[in-house]
Amino acid sequence: MPAPFCLPPYLSARSATETVAACQRLLESDDAAMVDAKRLRFADPFGLAMLGATFHMVRDQGRAVGVCGLSSDMAGYLSRMDVFEGVELVGCAPRPTERHDRRDALVELTLLDKQGGVDDAAYRLATVLAGTDPGEPPDEMSGFTAYDRLVEPIQYALSELLENAMTHARRQGFRYASVWVACQYYRNGLIRLGVVDNGCGFLETLRAHPDLRRETHHEAILIALRPRISCNRDLRLGLDSVNQGVGLTTTSRIAGQAGGGLVIVSGNAFHSTTGGSGILGCAAEWQGVAIAMECRRDRLPNVRVRELLPPLDALTSVRLRFE
Ligand SMILES: Nc1ncnc2c1ncn2[C@@H]1O[C@H](COP(=O)(O)OP(=O)(O)O)[C@@H](O)[C@H]1O
Ligand SMILES: [Mg+2]
Repeated sequence: MPAPFCLPPYLSARSATETVAACQRLLESDDAAMVDAKRLRFADPFGLAMLGATFHMVRDQGRAVGVCGLSSDMAGYLSRMDVFEGVELVGCAPRPTERHDRRDALVELTLLDKQGGVDDAAYRLATVLAGTDPGEPPDEMSGFTAYDRLVEPIQYALSELLENAMTHARRQGFRYASVWVACQYYRNGLIRLGVVDNGCGFLETLRAHPDLRRETHHEAILIALRPRISCNRDLRLGLDSVNQGVGLTTTSRIAGQAGGGLVIVSGNAFHSTTGGSGILGCAAEWQGVAIAMECRRDRLPNVRVRELLPPLDALTSVRLRFE
């Protein structure tokens, strides 16, 4: 195997440039990919999904992947999150962890590569993140339980992000693109999601959109976040929220209302809804879209998804899939 390439200390949305640059380097390396993880200290679901997607793609290129230098804690955690499928761990024994010890808090790296099943997957992931249903009786007025209110916003966000990655990402010759998702609830009350695809990216789907003033990845991310912007231009034909150009806007509003935000990477650009936007450093680029969402679990029950949806055309009737 060639000399190992050293992973950065943080694989996370906060260090998106380093994360994307590391994945890019692995994808563009020759022969077998050997990764030295001795500096790695923290990986969030964004980093896990990026690393898992990258390992998967390197293996699809017919190359072997090996990881050395991992601490036993990191090896245990990353194995628990299923990041090492088909990856050779060299000289690092994962610390044995009880597989189900954090069933209420972790969702392993999951690969979705078939159309359909997005809503089921989103519901399954949302209920894991929401924790155990305390079984409280429903509110008399709305018929919703507090638990329903907790699940609804996160399920909406996951459905929208996964649906986008399974449809838009597969345009422009990227029919076989896949999507990787990982989630975690942290003891400090934060929920973090990572949704990564290796499809065509925002710019390809929005290149012909009249609102795109400059043909750059950064501009494409920014306009995709605006309400009612969709590559599916004839919005009057839309029968559900998938075709309304409101999915990303609403997802970012949900994250904001729940005390967090989104970080979006596509091509050579990134945008954080809580500050920071522009071109990734180190000439880093990701072919596809990678999104991190962060929010506070205790704030989710106060989020009213319906009130956050941008106003819709009077012409269209909207059937919301979380109802
Ligand atoms: N994963 C993705 N890959 C490529 N383009 C995407 C992706 N997600 C969103 N987009 C682009 O952003 C636009 C806005 O997305 P969204 O707000 O969910 O609206 P809609 O899905 O209804 O078009 C999409 O129409 C598409 O052009
Ligand atoms: Mg959408």
